Amino acid sequence: MPKRELKPLKYKPDSLKGISQKTVEIHHGKLYAGYVSKSNEISEKLGELRRSGKAEGNQTYSELRGLKLGETFAINGVYLHENYFGILGGDGVPRGEIKKAIEKKWGSMEEFQSYFSACGMAARGWAILCWDMHEKELKQYNCDAQNHGGIWGAIPIIAMDVYEHSYFIDTGSDRAAYIKAFFENLNWDKIEELYQKAKNYEL
Ligand SMILES: [Fe+2]
Repeated sequence: MPKRELKPLKYKPDSLKGISQKTVEIHHGKLYAGYVSKSNEISEKLGELRRSGKAEGNQTYSELRGLKLGETFAINGVYLHENYFGILGGDGVPRGEIKKAIEKKWGSMEEFQSYFSACGMAARGWAILCWDMHEKELKQYNCDAQNHGGIWGAIPIIAMDVYEHSYFIDTGSDRAAYIKAFFENLNWDKIEELYQKAKNYEL
């Protein structure tokens, strides 16, 4: 299997408003990079374990169980962070069909931002605007950890990381200030691109 590779930032780490260079460099260069390298390590170890004939299925503990738990945490960590860093670096001004779709579903962009922000305050890991391929509509889902709470068949459009590492250096325990900054940095052209791709997928 080809190794997963770190996707570089498409903007300067000091260019975000309200999210510092230090936070971006640690978050992207150490934490996200760590998920990329661990996901490769786990995939390699799972392959070795399978080929060795010693893949023991035990639901209390086995090497296989440990690797399988780590696998979903690490790979979701890669995918969600790639969305997160990919949709930042913009001017924060909503536009496109995605804007119309959000307004249709939530009444106005202000209502959506207010609800999404509350969801971000209620989550321990991620608040995510998705395209749900089953229901064929935009949905907001939360997950408390990368491998706890995701919905299969829902494609992340706006993944907001609310783990403390996303903001604690900048705003301390004031997560609401970070969430406000997150919206101010959104790249709505990129979000529109993801929305257009997602809604054309067929299950
Ligand atoms: Fe993160």
